[in-house]
Parts: sequence; structure tokens; C-alpha cells
Amino acid sequence: MSGSASKDRAIRDPDTGSAPRHVAIIMDGNGRWATQRGLPRLEGHRRGVEALRRAVRAAIDLKIGYLTVYSFSAENWTRPFDEVQSLLGLLHLFIRNDLAELNANNVRVRIIGERQGLAPDIAQLLIEAESVTINNTGLVLVVAFNYGARQEIAAAARRLAQRVKEGKLHLDDIDADCFGAELETNDIPDPDLIIRTSGEQRLSNFLLWQAAYSEFVFLPVLWPDFDRAAFISAIAEYMHRDRRYGGLTAPQLSKKSAS
Ligand code: IPE
Ligand code: IPE
Ligand code: MG
Repeated sequence: MSGSASKDRAIRDPDTGSAPRHVAIIMDGNGRWATQRGLPRLEGHRRGVEALRRAVRAAIDLKIGYLTVYSFSAENWTRPFDEVQSLLGLLHLFIRNDLAELNANNVRVRIIGERQGLAPDIAQLLIEAESVTINNTGLVLVVAFNYGARQEIAAAARRLAQRVKEGKLHLDDIDADCFGAELETNDIPDPDLIIRTSGEQRLSNFLLWQAAYSEFVFLPVLWPDFDRAAFISAIAEYMHRDRRYGGLTAPQLSKKSAS
């Protein structure tokens, strides 16, 4: 058996916790990867797209339900114009080149993030990626583009306040469930595991609400070097964590008693 096959089996080991249903990735370190090699940052972003393809294939093989990738933050617009243009160009290329393969692999694409103010060609592409794959039933690939969690939360608060103002919603009915239902991710389970590459240990405005009980794995690897083995070892680490959600129940016991 090949090394990767035995590792694939290891993450299905019944003695460890369950595999994550939803993995979210902060794909960080493209710029440093390029700088270390004396290459322009754009080259790091190009290689980052290849790493994204590998991650999607691995997620399909590992039968992960949801893979969310942070592709461009609401704050990334503050980067130099040329770099922003390159990143938008790569998103364009990724959807143009990879949508057919994603569709053939039964992947459903979802996009989260602010759409208003986007260039019409980008906005159109995002609509196309979602509509072409809307009936697919395999991996849900959630692309966070022009995404900022604080902005998402503020927009939800604004909509709820408007409904209260119009007399359509009671103030007392606003609880965590009601609020979560107002977020863009309302039909996506919270991420079980959030991976960030590049050694940084922060969320950078990613899924702040949804990450309340996520497990975090921070990897030193720069995103363009992220591969299947790194993905599998992050999942294996996740599976050894005890998720207690504030209670005292050991997950192993609850899992066995549930089966
Ligand atoms: C991640 O790599 C890609 C985006 C944020 C769009 P970076 O470009 O942040 O790479 P570093 O962090 O500068 O190395
Ligand atoms: C987070 O990475 C955003 C994406 C990966 C798209 P950044 O590189 O923008 O985050 P900071 O600036 O290091 O916090
Ligand atoms: Mg970065």
C-alpha cells in the first residue's frame, strides 16, 4: 500500500474522532514563497492556484462535504493595484479553466463575500460558477471572495434592524440561531477545522461568527507548497482533538454511545 493510501486510511481510523465535514482554509504565504525564490509575488499566486487545485482534488477523494477557501479578503484591496489586478485575473482564469472539471466532478460552487461594487465581468463569472454547478451533489466548494466577516456580520445586523423597524420581527426573537440564519453561510455547517498556512496564527477577518467552535491547525508550510500529505496530516491532527463545546463529554464516549 502506498504511503498516501495508508494515511488516507488513517484518517478513517474508527479509534479517532470523526473526519471533518467542513474544512476551511486560509491560503496564506504566496508572496513569501515567491520572495524566497527571487520571483515576483504574482508567481507565488500562480503556484497558489495549483495548490488550490490539489486541495480540491484531495477534498473530493477524502469525501469532505464542504471546503471553504479564503481567496481574497475585503482588506486585500489595500494591496498595490498591480497585485490586486493579478489576483482578480487569477480568479478569472481559475473559474474559466476549472469550472468544467469542477462540474464534471459533481462539485457545487458557492461564493461568499460582498458582490456590490465588483467589476461586472467578475460579478458575472461568480454568478456563472454558482449557476452551472447548482444541481451538483458532491463537494461544496465555498469560495470566500471580497469576504470580510465583520462586514458580513454588520450587514446581517442591518437587515435584522430593518425588519424590526418595519414591525416584521420582534426584538426578542433575535437570538444566535436567528442571527446565524441571516448570514451568507446559513445553509453551510460551521467549519469543523480551519487550516491556515504560512505560520501566521490569526483569522484575518475570516468566518468570525462561524468559527466559534472550530478547531484550528496552523501549518508552517507556505500555501504554494501545501499538498495532499499536509492536508491529511492537518485532518489527522483535528481527529485527535476533543471537541467539548463547553461541556464535559468526551467525544469518544459520545461517538461510541451514538453508534
Ligand atoms: C495569500 O498569500 C494570498 C492572498 C492573501 C490573496 P499572500 O499574498 O498573503 O502571501 P504573503 O502572506 O504575503 O506571503
Ligand atoms: C488572509 O491573508 C486573506 C487570504 C488568505 C485571502 P492576508 O495575508 O491578507 O492576511 P494578513 O494581512 O496577514 O492578516
Ligand atoms: Mg498573507
